[in-house]
Amino acid sequence: MSDQTNESENEFKGLESEDDRSVIGRRIVWHKETESTNDDARNAAEAGEPEGLVVIADLQNAGRGRMSRIWTSPPGMDILFSVLLRPEAADLPKMPLLAGLAVARTLEQFTDTPITLKWPNDVRAANRKISGSLVESGGSEAGYYAILGTGVNVNQDASGHPEIAEIATSLRTLNDKSVSRRDVMRKLLLEMDNIYSSPENMTSLVSVWSARLETIGQEIDVRWGDEFIHGIAEGVDDTGRLLLRDEDGEVRQLEAGEVTTVLGTRN
Ligand code: BTN
Repeated sequence: MSDQTNESENEFKGLESEDDRSVIGRRIVWHKETESTNDDARNAAEAGEPEGLVVIADLQNAGRGRMSRIWTSPPGMDILFSVLLRPEAADLPKMPLLAGLAVARTLEQFTDTPITLKWPNDVRAANRKISGSLVESGGSEAGYYAILGTGVNVNQDASGHPEIAEIATSLRTLNDKSVSRRDVMRKLLLEMDNIYSSPENMTSLVSVWSARLETIGQEIDVRWGDEFIHGIAEGVDDTGRLLLRDEDGEVRQLEAGEVTTVLGTRN
């Protein structure tokens, strides 16, 4: 094993939760390189792994984002991880919200730049994306599960790559200095668990999350299947669906999974 590998592996060693009441981080697996941490967590789920497993990777060869987009990140720079949860069925639609809110709360502890949430689950800073989550669910003999896969741009030099400089940022780009991935990861696991392990926090999650959405009140364009809809984002319902008043005055309920792109805002 190279020194570089040891360094990265050690960076995430010992982050397992110590509190018996915690769920997220009961077991943490680190990979120097993998296809997708979502696939690793899914395989574990299908094999009967209890909830709380966290899979982290330094490099993904087939990292994916929402709507079949790819998610790339240079090796060892950012945080790429997936959490296996087995929530109550009623809480399944809240999983993307949980990830977004926990990431936003975490990043605020590492930068003075305001952090915002764009529906459904982009986390943004300085008008650019800094994190996104892909939630996938499924079921097997061991029961159903949700995989919360999240990428957080920590130390990649987003400004140095013309193809993403205008749309992506990282903590390092915002702060002009590198940030410890370990510190960010530790806080992030605590923030996620603080929501998931508390029935009160799960109950208030939709309202707490929606209060932070920068999308609400804005005129937006979305692509929904083959359809383009223009309207005003009026709010979210109690499962996190976007309520969009279209040009005919009809309120459409848009599922995160069905909206291809929030194409833009007009104010
Ligand atoms: C998005 O904004 O489109 C979601 C991006 C999700 C990327 C993360 S990185 C860790 C996990 N593994 C994957 O293949 N995807 C998610």
